[in-house]
Order: sequence, then structure tokens, then C-alpha cells
Amino acid sequence: MKFFMDTANIERIREYAELGIVDGVTTNPSLVAKEGKNFEEVIKEISSIVKGPISAEVLSLNTEGMIEEAKKLANIAPNIAIKIPMTKEGIKATYILSQKGINVNITLVFSPSQALLAAKVGAKFVSPFIGRLDDISHIGMDIVSSIRTIFDNYDFQTEIIVASIRHPRHIVEAAELGADIATVPPAVLEKIFHHPLTDIGIERFLDDWRKAFEK
Ligand code: G3P
Repeated sequence: MKFFMDTANIERIREYAELGIVDGVTTNPSLVAKEGKNFEEVIKEISSIVKGPISAEVLSLNTEGMIEEAKKLANIAPNIAIKIPMTKEGIKATYILSQKGINVNITLVFSPSQALLAAKVGAKFVSPFIGRLDDISHIGMDIVSSIRTIFDNYDFQTEIIVASIRHPRHIVEAAELGADIATVPPAVLEKIFHHPLTDIGIERFLDDWRKAFEK
């Protein structure tokens, strides 16, 4: 399974990319706004750090505006994927952009039927937001399972990016269900490294070594 980072924070992206675990990056308007920097410059810098797909989101709500923004964003670097919201206008824009060979990531997906439409018009990625479904007492991961089955049934090549990840269990469940990608916020990625038994184990090994050889 591929790991994308769900952030626009350059320092964190650089830090984890150096570990060799980052296959791509996803951003959205909220994440870019949080950094308080120029949108296009941030996307350009990210795309120079990580070779894999970098998702940059359009702000327009109509097809024409989406296509115009998408063309500008796609010119920033060859690894840009255009994030487009799951609306009728967005689906139309995706249909047009996909035919031109521009990679689209359909975002704000909350049902398998929405994912099916995204795949039909040739989206490269589809992003089910599972944490936001959990937040309203649904089982977010259920739609990932259903989308996997649908894509396999019809051999759709659209890759599933499990998004809105809140904790490491979400990553494990996404992997168990065969999702192609998990896009993970830095804070959740960091949690994977911390296990009390790993820390205790290291301490014990070093302690035993010291007792035996450092008298
Ligand atoms: O990339 C978008 C998605 O992951 C947002 O997550 O935490 O705002 O629901 P969240």
C-alpha cells in the first residue's frame, strides 16, 4: 500500500520523505491556508521534494473554472494531480481533463455510488473521507470495502485514496481492505513510531549490555 502525506507543511513532508515512506502528498484548501503561504509556491516546493503524485485542489465550482484552474496547476510540475470535488460540475470537468491525460483526484467522496461515477469518467484517484463519516456515527471504512469490490468487479484502474484518516487503526483497516493508498496527516504518521514496548525493549537491551560489560 502506498503512503501519501495529507499536509501542506514543507518541513513535515521533508522529514518523512527522508525516511523513504512517502509516495505522494495530498493537500486541500484548508491545509494550504493553515500554512499561510502562496498556494502555487507551496505546491511547487512539495512537488520538488516528493516524486509521486501531489494533489492540488481547485476552488471553482463550475466546470469551466475547474478546467482553467486545473490547466494552470498541471503546469506547475509533471506530478500534479488535480483535486476536484464530487459534484456534477466536477464529474464533467474530470471527464474532459482525463481525456486530455490530466490526472484527477475526486475528493469529498462519501458513498460507493459517487466513487463509481468518478471511476466511470476516468479519475486517476478517488478519495473517500472515512473519518468524517465516522464523525457522524457511520462506519466510514464500509464504503472503502464496497468501492474495492466495485472497482475489482469492473477492473476500474482508479486508485482508492483512503482520506480523512484519524488514527493508525484506520491505516491498518485500509490496508486490510486492499485500498491502494492511505493519505495520512503527520500527527498520525508519528503515532506509528511510538509503542511503549519498543521503548521498554530498547531500554532493557541497553541496560543488560551495560550491566554485563560496563563494570
Ligand atoms: O485530504 C483531505 C482529508 O484527508 C481531510 O481530512 O481530517 O479534514 O477530515 P479531515
